[in-house]
Amino acid sequence: MRAPTALIAELTHRCPLHCVYCSNPEAMQPRSDEMDTEQWCRVFRDASELGVHQIHFTGGEPLSRLDLTQLIAHARRERLYVNLITSGIGLNEQRLEELVSAGLDHIQLSFQDVDEAEANRWAGTRGHAHKLNLAGLIRKHRIGFTVNLVVHRNNLDRLERMIAMAEDLHADKLEIANVQYYGWALRNRQALIPTREQLHASLATIALARERLLGKMRLDYVLPDYYAKYPKPCMGGWGQSLMLIDPAGFCMPCHAAGAIAGMQFDTARDHSLEWIWHQSVAFNKFRGQDWMREPCRSCDRREQDFGGCRCQAFLLTGDASATDPVCSLSPKRGLVDAILAEIQPTPHSPFIVVRDLVYRTDPH
Ligand code: SF4
Ligand code: FES
Repeated sequence: MRAPTALIAELTHRCPLHCVYCSNPEAMQPRSDEMDTEQWCRVFRDASELGVHQIHFTGGEPLSRLDLTQLIAHARRERLYVNLITSGIGLNEQRLEELVSAGLDHIQLSFQDVDEAEANRWAGTRGHAHKLNLAGLIRKHRIGFTVNLVVHRNNLDRLERMIAMAEDLHADKLEIANVQYYGWALRNRQALIPTREQLHASLATIALARERLLGKMRLDYVLPDYYAKYPKPCMGGWGQSLMLIDPAGFCMPCHAAGAIAGMQFDTARDHSLEWIWHQSVAFNKFRGQDWMREPCRSCDRREQDFGGCRCQAFLLTGDASATDPVCSLSPKRGLVDAILAEIQPTPHSPFIVVRDLVYRTDPH
């Protein structure tokens, strides 16, 4: 088994935002259970020895960790390429300079919308103007800069303006991702899933923008996979490319694996990353093809998409070994079609929830 290409380090689940599509688990790791600086530094050394090249610091909001500068410096000393995935809340000019001086290579700054009032409403925090200002500060440094935007039924019609915003901010790359239905997004799915018409319109907008921006700004677009004919090769295959470590040190093949009933995860406090990657039950559970059933077992696409997403299979069918129901060849595809058939042009429910907050989806 080759080494993971990247490590996703969820430094904390603490976050000043309350995004309605938050992918963090509903039961978050409390601050008191977070790994300390020394424990994370041992993880970085382990990762480097295992052959990992990149580390993505995320959360929650990784800026909530007061030792972030130290962590970046340690990761860099272990020859890891360091990416920070952040809302930008908690970052100012001075702290940014410290992070860059410590060796930060790349920032992904997340936006909720192009419209300030909408962005603030969906994030549950008044942070949009701060992010715009921060983007200008980031561009003063010689580090990579990606703008992340999450789209859903309530903002997808503003796609053109979102792309123009990222251009104005001089991003190297724009990643626009439709909400994926795990965690809080699964709970709020009926209010978030776009209509088929919106999806088609978005594809046309993306195609035109890609042509126009060729050589200027890279544009990635992640589709809502409920509309797909075949599923995505989630995480590059279970336990094949990526390792995620949660704030308490539990090592998982993906951010949603904790939702699969009965799964046990080993922790980086008790084992080396090498042992976990090669030996742990969790990482071996859906590796290879032995676990597959028909129709995946004999399907020509099984080495391309690995049978789809194990977490989605579990969340929709109750069976993590099932073919991802998003697949048109799955005997359970009807479950996804039924969800799509229920979509209304206006939100099904005017209220959506995340953590302790309830949102109205109409602005009035
Ligand atoms: Fe992929 Fe399985 Fe569907 Fe084939 S049947 S396309 S392997 S999910
Ligand atoms: Fe867990 Fe896809 S999110 S395998």
